[in-house]
Amino acid sequence: MLSRSAEKYRVDLRTGEGLDEALAGCEVVVDAANASKRAADTLVEGSRRLLAAEEKAGIGHHVCVSIVGCDRVPMAYFQVKAEQERVVEEGRVPWTIVRATQFHELVDATFASAARWRVLPVPRGRLQSVAVAEVARAVADVAEGAPYRRRVDVAGPEVAGIRDLARTWRSVTGRRVLPLPLPLPGGIGRALRAGALTSDRPDVRGTTRFASWLEAERR
Ligand SMILES: NC(=O)c1ccc[n+]([C@@H]2O[C@H](COP(=O)([O-])OP(=O)(O)OC[C@H]3O[C@@H](n4cnc5c(N)ncnc54)[C@H](OP(=O)(O)O)[C@@H]3O)[C@@H](O)[C@H]2O)c1
Repeated sequence: MLSRSAEKYRVDLRTGEGLDEALAGCEVVVDAANASKRAADTLVEGSRRLLAAEEKAGIGHHVCVSIVGCDRVPMAYFQVKAEQERVVEEGRVPWTIVRATQFHELVDATFASAARWRVLPVPRGRLQSVAVAEVARAVADVAEGAPYRRRVDVAGPEVAGIRDLARTWRSVTGRRVLPLPLPLPGGIGRALRAGALTSDRPDVRGTTRFASWLEAERR
């Protein structure tokens, strides 16, 4: 595994530092880097730096982890992910983009963080969250095969309203929090309500539901 804090091969996608040494002798690269601040530096410019280093190293398959529907939601982070996908698709290294829906881990962490104020802001919208372990398995399967030169969707077993997810979270965790309807105006609200972040017919469908995942986490 390569990252800025990796023990063996430290790399920084924002500068390109360490990439040449780290990629020597590799055949496949899985890019699962992420950044919440200045995301384009890491994900878009970082992908360009990574792909240039991959070309030099003769990498035969670049696997990019992305997000189902990132090109359908007009939110800055999703727009960066869509741009990252374009860089990969237009690059010279054979590629596969694995698009996943939101991880159960993210939904849980988002609710837990809001619950510190004893409220759960719940916009109207639908998600199809999936356990990160199931996404990791799908990414590993893709990385072991030949490049698809297309997107592969990985989604959770069920589409659920964010309000239902909040209700489930409250009931499994037993936290006393007040669900607070959160109006999301404009294109972002419309996209979430229309289920833009979900996938009707994913290539891979996880089997672990949010409620069972939460229960297992708390055992
Ligand atoms: N979270 C979700 O619900 C979700 C859903 C669908 C798809 N995805 C996608 O899945 C991927 C992983 O997301 P995640 O939530 O698992 O991310 P994460 O937990 O935030 O992990 C990000 C990783 O990127 C590394 N990183 C950050 N900046 C870097 C840099 N400049 N150079 C090299 N490495 C860097 C970090 O390590 P260091 O800090 O040590 O460098 C860390 O290992 C992303 O592409 C994301 O868009 C996420």
